[in-house]
Amino acid sequence: MTASIPNSTAYEQLLERLARERHTWLVTGVAGFIGSNLLETLLKLDQQVVGLDNFATGHQRNLDEVRTLVTTDQWAQFTFIEGDIRKLEDCRRACEGVEYVLHEAALGSVPRSLADPITTNSTNIDGFLNMLVAARDAEVKSFTYAASSSTYGDHPALPKVEDVIGKPLSPYAVTKFVNELYADVFARSYGFKSIGLRYFNVFGSRQAPAGPYAAVIPKWTAAMIAGEEIFINGDGETSRDFCFIANAIQANLLAATTTRVEAKNQIYNVAVGDRTTLNELFQALVVELANNGISYGKRPLYREFRDGDVRHSLANINKASSLLGYEPLFKIREGINAAMPWYVLLGNRK
Ligand SMILES: NC(=O)c1ccc[n+]([C@@H]2O[C@H](COP(=O)([O-])OP(=O)(O)OC[C@H]3O[C@@H](n4cnc5c(N)ncnc54)[C@H](O)[C@@H]3O)[C@@H](O)[C@H]2O)c1
Repeated sequence: MTASIPNSTAYEQLLERLARERHTWLVTGVAGFIGSNLLETLLKLDQQVVGLDNFATGHQRNLDEVRTLVTTDQWAQFTFIEGDIRKLEDCRRACEGVEYVLHEAALGSVPRSLADPITTNSTNIDGFLNMLVAARDAEVKSFTYAASSSTYGDHPALPKVEDVIGKPLSPYAVTKFVNELYADVFARSYGFKSIGLRYFNVFGSRQAPAGPYAAVIPKWTAAMIAGEEIFINGDGETSRDFCFIANAIQANLLAATTTRVEAKNQIYNVAVGDRTTLNELFQALVVELANNGISYGKRPLYREFRDGDVRHSLANINKASSLLGYEPLFKIREGINAAMPWYVLLGNRK
């Protein structure tokens, strides 16, 4: 057995261990942004992965891209199931023989949930419950799911600490909070302990830049590359704790494999612990685009605040650090720097 590097982080030790041991993982929402990045990381670690997706917001092109980034042998370890988490039988099929579940499938976006609360509800709540039941019955080793910082709702305190939440500000936030309640009840009622990761504005490659519900970083970057106007909702002083995808992947792998009893049946903030205003984000993107040979000279246009948006978001990440050994390796600038070549490539393909 190889000894772990002295003073290496919990994540480095985990990566070393996974490189020696093959496990079976289920990633739901595998054709989406976070799911396809989890897939890429797991395959590169020679893990076996089952993926479930119905392509509601995910894309075949994300899976195709991952295929180009791994070896043929690694790709052969991936089984894709086209299915819907709103169907219990699809969830059961996906959970068969799986050790670790990373449940990412959901309909994201606050505005989408305001426009169509019924579909968001059925996917995010019925679908979540189906996945819990299927994973419990399949006796998986762990169940880690995508929760959301939107659960902090109208609570004004900053930074956000896991057990101090307010009232939800959107149907989407309600669904993500209900996920946490169901997860807790499954621990109490059936001894099925899961871990919820409250993501704070995750960004990186394969995050959809187009469409009415696109997230701010890919949307703005694509618009800037195309030389289009940038619209800022509100005065630009709205702030977010932007979290690069590599940090979110780290949190998932640490959470899924933890053996610490006190770390289970818990909710964790997944962020950096650093906040950036939209005005600062705009400037950072201009600078990073310039570093990639693209100059953007337009000023942003300010318009109304958007319904359902929280004003400020900043995480306290002490809980994930102390119980899971989570140490985000990328701050926003480093993340934008790492993701920019992907945005530029995408922009050039158009
Ligand atoms: N990206 C973020 O900043 C962020 C922040 C907080 C929470 N989250 C949560 O993280 C998870 C992943 O988000 P993402 O940004 O990768 O979004 P995404 O839209 O790129 O991925 C979600 C995936 O789930 C799939 N899906 C949707 N409904 C489904 C269904 N009924 N059956 C099977 N698959 C279905 C979609 O097709 C898509 O591939 C979601 O649960 C989201 O709510 C994301």
